[in-house]
Amino acid sequence: MAIKRVLQIGRLMPALEDQLQREFTVVRLADQPDAAAFLASEGASFDALVTSAAFGADARLFDKLPNLKIISSFGVGLDQIDLAAAAARGIAVGYTPDVLNDCVADIAFALLLDVARGASASDRFVRAGKWLTERYPLQTRVSGKRLGILGLGRIGRTIARRATGFDMEIRYTNRRRVNDVPYTHEPDIKALAAWSDFLVIAAAGGDESRGMVSAEVLNALGPKGFLVNVARGSVVDERALVKALQDGRIAGAGLDVFEDEPNVPPALFQLDNVVLLPHVASGTEETRQAMADRVLDNLRRFHAGEPLVSQAPA
Ligand code: 8YV
Repeated sequence: MAIKRVLQIGRLMPALEDQLQREFTVVRLADQPDAAAFLASEGASFDALVTSAAFGADARLFDKLPNLKIISSFGVGLDQIDLAAAAARGIAVGYTPDVLNDCVADIAFALLLDVARGASASDRFVRAGKWLTERYPLQTRVSGKRLGILGLGRIGRTIARRATGFDMEIRYTNRRRVNDVPYTHEPDIKALAAWSDFLVIAAAGGDESRGMVSAEVLNALGPKGFLVNVARGSVVDERALVKALQDGRIAGAGLDVFEDEPNVPPALFQLDNVVLLPHVASGTEETRQAMADRVLDNLRRFHAGEPLVSQAPA
């Protein structure tokens, strides 16, 4: 049987690393005392690379792996992978869409409900013993409100389905109008924000969406509007967001993602109308296992000479 060598970038979840090692001859770049020297001497011996949405893979790395044919990435986000450079070199990029839609949509709703109803903030209130002497202030209703979704891809649609259970009215902004949904397309993000009670970001990261949720968009969302982000921190102008929250120009924010993870702007720690999660939207046992299985299946397909289960568009 041919030796199936795989180069691994960064550390992955232990169950995935174990299975990779059972099926392939895995070399972890992180274990090499001198990664650059290792790539210079051994880089040409790898045709398969495993990475994650967080670690990515860029053209400088591809230069050191002249025989690379496949990248299998753990995650749906492709913003850290140079897709154009991969396509130019004929490298197939496998990733893990679909299997995380439900969990990411669930967290979008957890953040939305939390920030509107003050679940985390009122938990802090009880723990601090304040209930003994104070009333918790009235919060904002979610059911029946207007939900704007930025990015109506697989995850955005799943969020919209959750929202119909809360009798919410739904509009969306997307690169293209989506024909098979009953929701209203709003081509202008500022108009979407102005209309929305809740603006949820489910758009892909990368240059196309960078800074799309700007100070202007936040002002349009307004002092009664809430922002939820389960996509990428880069989609929001984070400095403008911090400022808008400090000035009360938006009502609150529920954030799973940040511009420079794991660094969260400390100013946000002072605000009670902000819910901060450590990028955990896909972080359930079930979903992470399904993502790991897809990483493995993409590699297995490559070694079997078959099309990948999930191949990123070039
Ligand atoms: C991952 C994600 O947990 O899939 C993605 O793009 O952002 C998360 O689901 C994480 O990025 C894995 O590295």
